[in-house]
Amino acid sequence: MDLGLKNRRALVMGASRGLGRAIAEALVADGAKVGICAREGARLHETAEAIGAQAFAANLSEDGAGAAVVRDARAGLGGLDILVVNTGGPPAGTFDMLDDAAWRAGFESLVISAVQSIREALPGMRAQKWGRIIIVTSVSAREPIPTIVISNVMRPGLHGLINTLSKDVAADGITLNAVMPGFILTERIVETGFDQAKLIEQIPARRLGKPEEVGALAAFLASDAAAYINGQAIACDGALQRSI
Ligand SMILES: NC(=O)c1ccc[n+]([C@@H]2O[C@H](COP(=O)([O-])OP(=O)(O)OC[C@H]3O[C@@H](n4cnc5c(N)ncnc54)[C@H](OP(=O)(O)O)[C@@H]3O)[C@@H](O)[C@H]2O)c1
Repeated sequence: MDLGLKNRRALVMGASRGLGRAIAEALVADGAKVGICAREGARLHETAEAIGAQAFAANLSEDGAGAAVVRDARAGLGGLDILVVNTGGPPAGTFDMLDDAAWRAGFESLVISAVQSIREALPGMRAQKWGRIIIVTSVSAREPIPTIVISNVMRPGLHGLINTLSKDVAADGITLNAVMPGFILTERIVETGFDQAKLIEQIPARRLGKPEEVGALAAFLASDAAAYINGQAIACDGALQRSI
């Protein structure tokens, strides 16, 4: 599909593999000039080379990294039209399992990195009267999953940010939306040892999602065609969610 992204400049955070990589690939496939970010390491550079993107190393758990990587990408890409906010999942666990350090780590990586990267990206988007900001959250933001309580608490806050900020920037041609993945078959799902058969039992589509299905949704939200979709959280979950 031609989404008209040719020459748009995009930064996808948390994109050396998994959902971030799939989103970056979808943007590259439509002609965008794409930068990907992950922590420094061979995987970041291998992925950048494999998909035709530029690599920008950053540890999004560190204070200031979200803003710094946006600055680096803007310099490297010659500007920034599309920002995809994504990173690794916060520490997993039920309430009894998690100490203050885990809560703070989850807040830093999920919320602070999003706030700092968006704050850095917005002035340029406002000046050029065009911008797309997409945050990868989770179906757990709407229907909490008992074993990932930090995600259940932090991600609805990001939906609150999107809803609030979209009102401030809509007149400048900027949209902010969230993509809520359900259970998508990335390396992380394999590594965390989820029982895939049990997950599939809960999913009306009777399969896990494919990363490229999330990529396609994000690429559409980044396009001109999606200009009037603003302040929304959209699931890609095979009909998993029951809330209306
Ligand atoms: N897969 C699903 O079913 C699903 C469902 C709902 C929500 N989510 C959420 O969506 C996000 C992505 O999921 P995923 O399955 O694609 O995870 P993943 O396969 O573990 O990929 C995470 C990506 O983020 C990077 N990353 C991790 N920590 C980072 C940090 N501190 N700074 C910079 N980059 C970092 C990783 O690269 P490096 O390790 O090289 O830094 C990797 O490229 C996560 O927050 C996850 O909780 C996933």
